[in-house]
Amino acid sequence: MIKVAFYDAKAYDKPSFEHYGEMFGVQFKYLETKLCEDTADLAKGCDVVCVFVNDTVNSAVIDHLYKIGIKLIALRSAGYNNVDVKAAFGKIHVVHVPAYSPYAVAEHAMALLLTSVRRIHKAYIRTREFNFSLNGLTGFDFHGKTVGVIGTGKIGRIFIGICRGFGMRVIAYDPYPAEEAGIEYTSLDDLFAKSDIISLHCPLSDSTFHTINADAISKMKKGVVIVNTSRGGLIDAEALLDGIKSRKIGAACLDVYEEEADIFFEDRSGHILDDDLLSRLISMPNVIVTSHQAFLTEEALSNIAETTVNNILSFFNNDGICDNELCYRCGNIERCRGNRKEKCF
Ligand code: NAI
Repeated sequence: MIKVAFYDAKAYDKPSFEHYGEMFGVQFKYLETKLCEDTADLAKGCDVVCVFVNDTVNSAVIDHLYKIGIKLIALRSAGYNNVDVKAAFGKIHVVHVPAYSPYAVAEHAMALLLTSVRRIHKAYIRTREFNFSLNGLTGFDFHGKTVGVIGTGKIGRIFIGICRGFGMRVIAYDPYPAEEAGIEYTSLDDLFAKSDIISLHCPLSDSTFHTINADAISKMKKGVVIVNTSRGGLIDAEALLDGIKSRKIGAACLDVYEEEADIFFEDRSGHILDDDLLSRLISMPNVIVTSHQAFLTEEALSNIAETTVNNILSFFNNDGICDNELCYRCGNIERCRGNRKEKCF
């Protein structure tokens, strides 16, 4: 039986992982704590650690896991910016779930956008208190507006399709354009200048860190709406707050936040929030924050569990060859997907 230490386990994770684990002989040890240097030892006796977006998988943690015999790090997410894949090379293999429901994330981005622009979050509170006034609830039509999409991978392209359904003009920026997708690509600066709405769908990396910063905001239209369902580090939150205070930014819809690691996914309602920047953002009438919820649909949870269990099985039963391995050796970590004939090392 393959044993898996499952860090940062939540109640909603267990049913689908139990289902596929029992079906294929994979045993999960659920740990509520996140993976970090202090908690790495809890994986002793397991073959695999299964981690999520806010677990810390840096070189110190990797060295510790390697020492206690962990052979595989199985991310149950698409993004892997929290894993030092370079440090893992030659020691522990890393697999992820490249796609589980891009629809879940793209639809959540649109849900946030509609909620914000049509002030649904305000109306909901008002009518519950029998306040039926419309003052301050004026939105704007999406039809005819320009949406700028940064990152046209799986999620970005689905979001584009949804926006087109609303009659919006779509422009996009991606250093690796999707050929034959009929997308109008432009430079980042041009996208900033022309977009009424900007939605981020690229991974967090050195080159995308703080894509939205003070300089970028200065190039944007007054009243621009910014949507981020990708990773918090794509936005300099201080600059975002300044942009909101100066009325340059019309609204922000955030499912992710740079410093979310110790805050999101937990009930902090009885505590004082130490993060002044997040408190200030949440207090703004034109900011909506959800706590990294975009992936959370039944379909996505089932696909995450199924792919994670399959990744683990192919690693242990298929000479270690797994299509979803993050292959540091290739330089471009995901490049050899689909025609993989050997493991990364
Ligand atoms: P993907 O890998 O299919 O697409 C990413 C796209 O970003 C690619 O087309 C790539 O060329 C592009 N890209 C790379 N560098 C770029 C740059 N410097 N500027 C603009 N574009 C760049 O990934 P997918 O599945 O569409 O996911 C996108 C992101 O969404 C993930 O990296 C992850 O961070 C985030 N995500 C968030 C979730 C949530 O619950 N909030 C759930 C799942 C993913």
